[in-house]
Amino acid sequence: MTKIGVLISGSGSNLQSIIAAVKSGRIDGEIAVVISNDPAAYGLTRAAESGIATRVVKHGDYARRSDFDDELVRVLRESDVELVVLAGFMRVVGQGLLKAFPDRVINIHPAILPAFPGTDGQAQAFNYGVKLAGCTVHFVDEKVDHGPIIIQAAVPVLDSDTQDDLKARILKCEHKILPHAIALYCAGKLRLVGRRVVIAGPDEALWAKSALFSCPGLD
Ligand code: GAR
Repeated sequence: MTKIGVLISGSGSNLQSIIAAVKSGRIDGEIAVVISNDPAAYGLTRAAESGIATRVVKHGDYARRSDFDDELVRVLRESDVELVVLAGFMRVVGQGLLKAFPDRVINIHPAILPAFPGTDGQAQAFNYGVKLAGCTVHFVDEKVDHGPIIIQAAVPVLDSDTQDDLKARILKCEHKILPHAIALYCAGKLRLVGRRVVIAGPDEALWAKSALFSCPGLD
């Protein structure tokens, strides 16, 4: 059973989707610790309510980014974490953490990468005027929102949408593809071929049908 460390900064709705998938047995893993860089993050309450250990590592407490990174690594190792999940973690993770967990850090981003990396991917997509928006789960590398892509899902952008409507539609898909990607990782079904992530077994067929509009197969 894979020990998972989840890093958050805010509401933690993605964390909640992981907790649900662990509880239902869809993820063969255990959330060993939830770490937030913000002590006020609601996700800490969600974790505590599910009996999960929480830690706060405030980035402002560290003079250098590498010191912040070192502390994250220390806390993750303390909990024997094997897989690190960035679930709405609004800090860039540095080399120290990536070296400590090679090919073992994954991130959810609220846009179809490589379009609209960085902050507020949903607003970037909305303002650009795209007709399809969505989200991406990817392995993290040294560049922001750049590493090998595990799963993507697309949603339509409607003319009647506000930015909040689109954000909510994307978030619903995030809550499906992030736990699914973690489940695949924990089941040993992800293989890196260069920067392509190959999914073993029937999941390939599932994703060949595509996640367009409704994330079929994951409802
Ligand atoms: C999610 O939309 C996630 O994709 C985004 O922050 C939100 C966190 O929501 N992450 C990023 O933008 C990272 N670049 P949550 O706290 O409710 O899970």
